[in-house]
Amino acid sequence: MKKRLINPPSPAGGRSPLRLITKAVVPAAGLGTRFLPATKAQPKEMLPIYDKPAIQYVIEEAVAAGIRDILVVTGRGKQAIENHFDRSIELEESLKAQGKRTALKMVREISDMVNLHYVRQKEARGLGHAVLCAKSFIGNEPFAVFLGDDIIDHPRPAMMQLMEIWKKYQAPVLAVEEIPRARTRAYGIIKPQAISNRLYKVQDLIEKPRPSQAPSCLGIVGRYLLTPDIFELLEKTRPGASGEIQLTDALRRLNHCRPVYAWRFEGQRHDIGNKLEFVKATLAYALKDKDAREPLLNYLREITSS
Ligand code: UTP
Repeated sequence: MKKRLINPPSPAGGRSPLRLITKAVVPAAGLGTRFLPATKAQPKEMLPIYDKPAIQYVIEEAVAAGIRDILVVTGRGKQAIENHFDRSIELEESLKAQGKRTALKMVREISDMVNLHYVRQKEARGLGHAVLCAKSFIGNEPFAVFLGDDIIDHPRPAMMQLMEIWKKYQAPVLAVEEIPRARTRAYGIIKPQAISNRLYKVQDLIEKPRPSQAPSCLGIVGRYLLTPDIFELLEKTRPGASGEIQLTDALRRLNHCRPVYAWRFEGQRHDIGNKLEFVKATLAYALKDKDAREPLLNYLREITSS
């Protein structure tokens, strides 16, 4: 039996006007313990992936998907994120004086990209708690969530793919990826009911199940389209075994109240909070640069042939 929500969803199926998604939340307040000591004094979201900090790829994806306002959830020691997207008058003056026009244009574009807002998560109490920090910013609108340490590379940005599903169903949509069964303990896993090749109706969600107990190998990754009723469920969510408030636990309850969909996105995902994935992402982006490609390939051949 479906439970009642205090703020029930508006009916989908064309009778209510389509609500466009213009706001996003980027949780970036985690401690990054998997990447210590690199993350002791700098945010992992600011680690450079070839020539850009990871979070800039994420913000660019949001802008490409038509998002107008982004709330970045930061924490202690994360000031570099705000500084990166702020104007840097001294740097701009210096570049201007040196006639470095291309660099000047690039630096200005970063600060003009989108309306960025910030909120501090005072303690890293989990992803669910970080999303809850956005409650008053979001109000009563559907919204997008982009994890600040997950980069997804595809000509059609992953969030745009999720928005197509939103347009059709006006219901929450989770990005999922086929993961190796041995890795289910690192993900929220869905129990899927296939609708088409990439689209699933979520039957259930389980946070970090053992491989033998996982209902599928479809792991939830860093892109979500959510409805504001998630906030009252997050408020009721108690910390899990790790002491963190898990977004997956609230999504599970949301799925008891209304249909939730999952989209197996097209694209290459890099979880840059993981050292090996970070190196792979850096290589993948460097290989896209036509000036770097050949010398880098030569170098890789050289160091792997011995
Ligand atoms: P992760 O679990 O990958 O990040 O959270 P973490 O906790 O920083 O990493 P490890 O496991 O200690 O290495 C996914 C995203 O959610 C944010 C993180 O910054 C990351 O972008 N997050 C996580 C928060 O904003 N607040 C939290 O309390 C936890």
